[in-house]
Amino acid sequence: MIYSRIAGTGSYLPDKVVTNADLEKIVDTTDEWIRERSGIHQRHVAADDETTCDLAEHAARRAIEAAGVEAGSIDLIVLATTTPDLVFPSTACLLQERLGIHDCAAFDIQAVCTGFVYALSVADKFVRTGAARCALVVGAETFTRIIDWSDRKTCVLFGDGAGAVIVEAADAPGVLSTHLHADGRYADLLLVPAGVSKDYQKLRGHGAFVRMEGNQLFKVAVNTLSGIVEEALTANGIGIDAVDWLIPHQANKRIIAATARKLGLSDERIIVTVAEHGNTSAASIPLALDVAVRDGRVKRGQLLLLEAFGGGLTWGAALVRY
Ligand code: ACO
Repeated sequence: MIYSRIAGTGSYLPDKVVTNADLEKIVDTTDEWIRERSGIHQRHVAADDETTCDLAEHAARRAIEAAGVEAGSIDLIVLATTTPDLVFPSTACLLQERLGIHDCAAFDIQAVCTGFVYALSVADKFVRTGAARCALVVGAETFTRIIDWSDRKTCVLFGDGAGAVIVEAADAPGVLSTHLHADGRYADLLLVPAGVSKDYQKLRGHGAFVRMEGNQLFKVAVNTLSGIVEEALTANGIGIDAVDWLIPHQANKRIIAATARKLGLSDERIIVTVAEHGNTSAASIPLALDVAVRDGRVKRGQLLLLEAFGGGLTWGAALVRY
């Protein structure tokens, strides 16, 4: 029986930091409102000439180093992003070339904030079936590029960054199970209302920015997230007490806290980076994981529960023995 395990993690944040005080100067908001409603203190923003692939490359190189593998042994690249460098080729293909890897399958996944959980699930299945032995899984975003900086309801929430993991074949289970869902009926709650095949001209002008019904999303998010956590626990026949760390998508401190309350989970067992990173969409979970691995909180052998929720709507979870 082949299993998959996370062999190493890496992440990267652009140098530029935008604080809540900086945002007070461009929209009608306050540091107090942002902290209280979202838990966010600051976010990183990519430089004008810095792309999603640039962020992904830094994170990928760090994950490759941490895993102790040669880039040449990677035989699958799955990259989750909502903000690809180009319409095509995929950012995964651009990254493959940067890393000097040739031939292996490489593709992007678009599930907005749930993208990394989707990508991890796909890589796990490739490895378990023997179709790949060493996968590079990345969540990378320059999400601030699709933000309207004059819309206080959204611009205070998002940031840029990248996280990556190496998923390799193993004799014992690392990724125990993954659970993916989507429901397009809620597409209007969170969207960019223009794309390649619809209102393409808007992409060159104004209007192709994130729109969000934050209040409605908040309620759907809390219910959906506690449900997906229960689904992952039930599938593995364990209770929440068996989980060492919950690593949630970092959208909002209050969503994380409300989900934890519903699950009966104490704050000490949750990795929270939203204060420093904001919502980095597909990058948020691998970023939080890497932060906690590198600061020593997440240790080998511990049980991690990753969960996410995002545009689509999409949602998903992964239970991982690290
Ligand atoms: N500064 C000051 N006031 C603001 C700001 C701001 N930045 N933004 C909104 N307000 C105002 C509103 O206009 C409103 O004013 P009104 O009462 O006069 O109309 C008031 O604050 C309250 O607004 P709400 O939207 O009710 O505030 P809420 O407490 O719901 O917080 C927030 C808003 C932070 C967006 C929250 O709803 C949230 O986090 N929602 C979920 C976001 C999410 O999970 N997204 C999904 C993942 S992201 C992805 O997939 C890409």
